[in-house]
Amino acid sequence: MVGPADTILRLDCSPKGRDANSSQFADEVAVKLSALEPGAWQVHRDLAATPPSFIDRGFTRDMNLFPVAAVASVTQTLRESEKLIGEVESARRILIATPMHNYTVPAVLKAWIDQVVRVGRTFESTPVGKVGLLPDRPVHIVVSAGGRIVGDRARQPDFLTPI
Ligand SMILES: Cc1cc2nc3c(=O)[nH]c(=O)nc-3n(C[C@H](O)[C@H](O)[C@H](O)COP(=O)(O)O)c2cc1C
Repeated sequence: MVGPADTILRLDCSPKGRDANSSQFADEVAVKLSALEPGAWQVHRDLAATPPSFIDRGFTRDMNLFPVAAVASVTQTLRESEKLIGEVESARRILIATPMHNYTVPAVLKAWIDQVVRVGRTFESTPVGKVGLLPDRPVHIVVSAGGRIVGDRARQPDFLTPI
């Protein structure tokens, strides 16, 4: 049984599977992260092979209805969201390997973000802005792009890497 923050969660987002540039580079990063976190379980999600669901009507209806503690048991509509959030909560570190698609994240990564970034559960809106509710942890992101996305010679928008 995996306990709190006992894992390294890896997300691969390229449709190219093992041929992906991002995944091959992430393999090397993963080795280094394992050395930093001895004893951590590796949890691997290939988001392209098994994409998260797009959020649906039930999700938007129920995401505000229940107190945080009751969400998982009360509603089926947020079950997938709870599972994916649970994987984040269990992670000491997160490694995301992603290509740029049309200047931004691939649709499968956006689908994961929409499942995991949930008001009242992983962040809250306050008078001073949106505030995260989960403890911070390192997130390592490997990005692969066909064109230049950084530096003076970049000639395309980049909605993926700016913070
Ligand atoms: C649908 C699609 C959209 C893409 N959009 C961009 C883009 O906007 N900018 C860019 O530099 N490369 C773009 N590319 C190229 C990929 O980012 C590039 O080939 C990258 O190395 C792929 O990484 P991967 O091997 O990890 O999948 C696109 C590729 C695909 C398939």
